[in-house]
Amino acid sequence: MTLTLCATRVDDGADDWPARLREIRRRLEDRPTLLPHHFLEVVLPKIGGSLFALRDIGAQNRSAESGYAFLLPRDIKGPSAEYTLRYEHVTGHPVARPEEINEAVERALPTGDRTVFYRAAAAPRFKPTHIDTGGVDCGRPDAAEGAVIRAMQQSIWRSAADGLYPSDLYGEEAGTGCSLVARVDGTLAGFLLGFYSFGRLQLEEAPQTGRKELQLESQLLAVAPEQRGRGIGLALKRLQARQTLAAGIERISWTADPLLFANALLNFTRLGAVAYEFQPNLYPFRNELNLVPASRLNLMWPLRSRRVQTALTGAGQTGPREVERDPELTIVNQADGSPVLDAASRRVGIEIPADWVALQRADLTAALRWRDVSNRLLDRYLGLQPGRYVIIGAGVSASRRYLIGERVDDRFLKETIGGTN
Ligand SMILES: CC(C)(COP(=O)(O)OP(=O)(O)OC[C@H]1O[C@@H](n2cnc3c(N)ncnc32)[C@H](O)[C@@H]1OP(=O)(O)O)[C@@H](O)C(=O)NCCC(=O)NCCS
Repeated sequence: MTLTLCATRVDDGADDWPARLREIRRRLEDRPTLLPHHFLEVVLPKIGGSLFALRDIGAQNRSAESGYAFLLPRDIKGPSAEYTLRYEHVTGHPVARPEEINEAVERALPTGDRTVFYRAAAAPRFKPTHIDTGGVDCGRPDAAEGAVIRAMQQSIWRSAADGLYPSDLYGEEAGTGCSLVARVDGTLAGFLLGFYSFGRLQLEEAPQTGRKELQLESQLLAVAPEQRGRGIGLALKRLQARQTLAAGIERISWTADPLLFANALLNFTRLGAVAYEFQPNLYPFRNELNLVPASRLNLMWPLRSRRVQTALTGAGQTGPREVERDPELTIVNQADGSPVLDAASRRVGIEIPADWVALQRADLTAALRWRDVSNRLLDRYLGLQPGRYVIIGAGVSASRRYLIGERVDDRFLKETIGGTN
């Protein structure tokens, strides 16, 4: 039977976007292949993906939605975009052929853009690899590991069911940009998941050309609690960098809670990432690691920059900086007290809690104050314009912990973010 399919884009800018996603999730009966709600609400539009509802306009009830196409960025071919079309069928409707679905969605896209059909419900194929990365066995997962990752995500974040990533994403055909695990004695010890994204070129090229480039948006990185502090997180990120560069992609971005000191050390000091954008209350969820509004720093990892290359070889700074020893640094807050908003020194130190996860559990009111003060400071100081600051490091002074921002000028931008070796 041939269907007359019509694809309509679901508007991610509309006020009812989150409610519409909830309604679609209900229609699809909360099946485990669905992408997490917060990913669809916030990340999908951010990475350049989209959602289409499909209807059979030849059917009696032509307004009934018979399936949904989740478009994930996959590649850029000349002026055209290519997407993985992740299809979810609504039970009870006639089943369309993949070619019909592809054609219906491609008709609704700009001319030349293509989709590659993928049905998440079918049994995914896995192609495990084992690569010795600084003494850690890392690589793509097998099917059993793919299933364990979902349980591990749940136990680390205590995420609600609609916050868990489907296991098939770690398979070979799901079109995700990067899926890696680390094993210790053959047991899963950590994992990492990233999606392709159509990123904006941030620097000089961007405003003139509006060009996009294929980047990677990393979404999950976690190490089993009993395996932390042994270099596994670092090994996973190093392998991610190597494989991403080998695939011809030069930038990886991800988000991190600005108040997590361990993550700041890993991201800025050990990996050489930088942050110049910030979103207060980015995600709608609450979970074990996010008991207060989920503000996020946008991290950028320009893999070819001298800073990142130095960090990746372990030759650069490996520990936190002593902020008191830096005469060009202004400390702009004392804990959650009143912030200094007019600093103009070469560097600023933004104090963050020594243990943010414990503080959220112990004193929610104090945690909310910390969030408020750091939101105000990040909002005031972060940016790429001259005079603004880019977070480049983590600092200490006795028991106090800091994020370190460096004032932007042309030389700094070229060397830290834009420059190549
Ligand atoms: C963040 C996380 C992935 C780190 O994994 P890990 O395997 O323990 O990290 P590593 O042992 O590779 O440490 C790498 C660097 O991170 C920093 N780091 C990691 N844990 C730290 C801690 N508890 N205190 C201070 N620094 C820490 C250090 O700079 C460390 O390098 P060093 O050991 O040479 O000083 C892990 O703690 C985790 O799963 N956390 C919960 C999930 C999460 O927050 N994910 C988001 C990541 S952006």
